[in-house]
Amino acid sequence: MKPVVLAGGTGSRLWPKSRAALPKQFLPLTSQATMLQETIQRLPKATMDSPLFICNEDHRFLAAEQLRSADISYDKIILEPVGRNTAPAIALAALHSVASGEDPIMLVLAADHLISQHSAFHQAIANASKLAEVNKLVTFGVVPNEAHTGYGYIKAGAAQANDGFDVAEFVEKPDAATAEKYLASGEYYWNSGMFMFKASVYLTELEKHAPEIYHACVKSMNATDTDMTFLRVDEEAFAACPDDSIDYAVMEKTADACVIPLDAGWSDVGSWSSLWDTASDKDANGNVTVGDVMLEGVNNSYINSEQRLISVIGLDDVVVVETKDAVLVANKNKVQDIKNVVNELKAKK
Ligand code: GDD
Ligand code: MG
Repeated sequence: MKPVVLAGGTGSRLWPKSRAALPKQFLPLTSQATMLQETIQRLPKATMDSPLFICNEDHRFLAAEQLRSADISYDKIILEPVGRNTAPAIALAALHSVASGEDPIMLVLAADHLISQHSAFHQAIANASKLAEVNKLVTFGVVPNEAHTGYGYIKAGAAQANDGFDVAEFVEKPDAATAEKYLASGEYYWNSGMFMFKASVYLTELEKHAPEIYHACVKSMNATDTDMTFLRVDEEAFAACPDDSIDYAVMEKTADACVIPLDAGWSDVGSWSSLWDTASDKDANGNVTVGDVMLEGVNNSYINSEQRLISVIGLDDVVVVETKDAVLVANKNKVQDIKNVVNELKAKK
């Protein structure tokens, strides 16, 4: 089985730590290792082939250096001249894999997830592989605990072998009212954003449901420039590819999807509040602190200092994140709005 690690996102909700030059997958957020390194380190080694990484051209040295320093060997780092979202990124990995005359089962992983229970994760991978072998597109479903609108929702259908189910319905990022309805029904899982399928199966479904993406990716791979480490795709052809995620382009449409339930302490570390939620080292007042921090009368807060001392007095449910050139102070329940700040900053540039 071939791990395919998607590392081209921007992680804008973890500003000011996560920046265009250093997105969250390259940060050590939940341990000493970076999110990218952890993605590989938590896999069951015995069943994994040499992984593929896909990221933006700008981050090539960051990615290569993080893999080298963690002693992670790999097939290639595929470089995208521009981000075109996950459907094309996975297509490049699949095309590279079939070009070598093989048709591996790909385990597609986001580079920015936290999974705390590794043996449960390994069991889910083993179960999923049985379904991928018979040409299914497998998702990993997490039991939802809130009506989050940033996730895909999967309705489980008929039971399949190996603890799996057919996907009766896949809805990417529903609106709030729909998400509430799904949560209340108890019939839906969250899509964890990890997938497993044969390279050829993905390419067939992509060609069927999103032919423009498929053909643009085939064209991009025709003129590749490759060395020991990096594989660069044709810039003009790839820039012409439509921008879409696998969730909208393939998973909402395919008739061959399955879901394997995943109960392994999964979190997508999407925001500062999710980092607070999943932290195992809260103090007696429910605070998570990183770096030089002094607190008095502070509860259920996340405080992260990079360089300077942070002192907070008499506040609950706050997020304070200090870096060299920017400081964030936010209500912990409003941290989703950080993307507005990031958009404003981008517009000013
Ligand atoms: N190479 C590459 N190129 N990687 C990308 C690109 C790209 O253009 N865009 C995103 N990625 C990477 C991100 O770095 C991340 O590791 C992964 O692909 C998923 O992208 P996100 O942008 O984080 O997706 P999302 O969180 O909005 O939604 C997905 O994940 C949710 C769970 O966290 C979907 O699959 C949802 O259905 C799912 O619930
Ligand atoms: Mg995400």
